[in-house]
Amino acid sequence: MKVELKIWRYDGATGQKALRPYEVDVSAEATLLDTLDAVKDKVDGSLAYRKSCRMMICGSCGMRVNGGAVLACKTRIADLVADGSVPVISAMGNLPVVKDLVVDMAPFWDKMRSVEPWLQPGYDQATEIENIVEQKRMDVIHKESLCINCGCCVSECNSMESDPDFLGPAALAKGFRFVGDTRDGATVERLERYSEAHGIWDCTRCYFCNERCPKGVDPRDAIAKLGAEAMKAGIDRDMGARHAKWFVTSAKTTGWLRETELVPKTQGVVKAIKEIKFAMSLVPKGKVPPPF
Ligand code: FES
Repeated sequence: MKVELKIWRYDGATGQKALRPYEVDVSAEATLLDTLDAVKDKVDGSLAYRKSCRMMICGSCGMRVNGGAVLACKTRIADLVADGSVPVISAMGNLPVVKDLVVDMAPFWDKMRSVEPWLQPGYDQATEIENIVEQKRMDVIHKESLCINCGCCVSECNSMESDPDFLGPAALAKGFRFVGDTRDGATVERLERYSEAHGIWDCTRCYFCNERCPKGVDPRDAIAKLGAEAMKAGIDRDMGARHAKWFVTSAKTTGWLRETELVPKTQGVVKAIKEIKFAMSLVPKGKVPPPF
């Protein structure tokens, strides 16, 4: 089968960028990764991309197709060209591009390391008795344990695009993998740390990470679980936490959201008074609900 595709080429040394068209022959069962291999073998040996396992395990082959992150080894090329369009392949977003489809994963690993993705206390303080965990308790963190660190969720994260310091969906999902693990002894410390600036409450809830995760980890759901655990532990200093808390209180007490009280309950009375002028400007537009 003849396949056409366009690839954003990038030269890290010169900073030059170009969208180049390619045409190759591949089998009908070929994946996008097979197609890139064909391009590299038969058309242009200078094309750079990462791969290793070819079976959705190593997480190396994350890249964007038509602007959305995928694993190249999970994506059938026939599906991409079925409607007659020419797919555009580019490097993942939110990470610096090194060459062509290869990104620098260092910022990804820095954030991953910052959530301390290991059990505490560690094996250096292991007890002599094996710590057997019931299956149903491990099921709580099953989805988060499926993460292969491919970075597809990070590539699509809107919060990270506006705040590169945001911990991001991958690191926070990893954080929940340990918060939810009954063997971990640092739950409160973790929740405190993840609730700081650039943490749990900076997620914009766009759900693109859930949509793009190729392994069904659903990182946004993990962030929501972290938020719930943080509030359960009484860690609700952040405005995001107070906002969520008021939603619950309001619904519990009256059955509906009392929006007029939302700002003072979330931001405090002083800040709410400062917002009055802005609130008044919304009245003529019909954006302010009746206070009673
Ligand atoms: Fe390993 Fe695609 S090559 S996940």
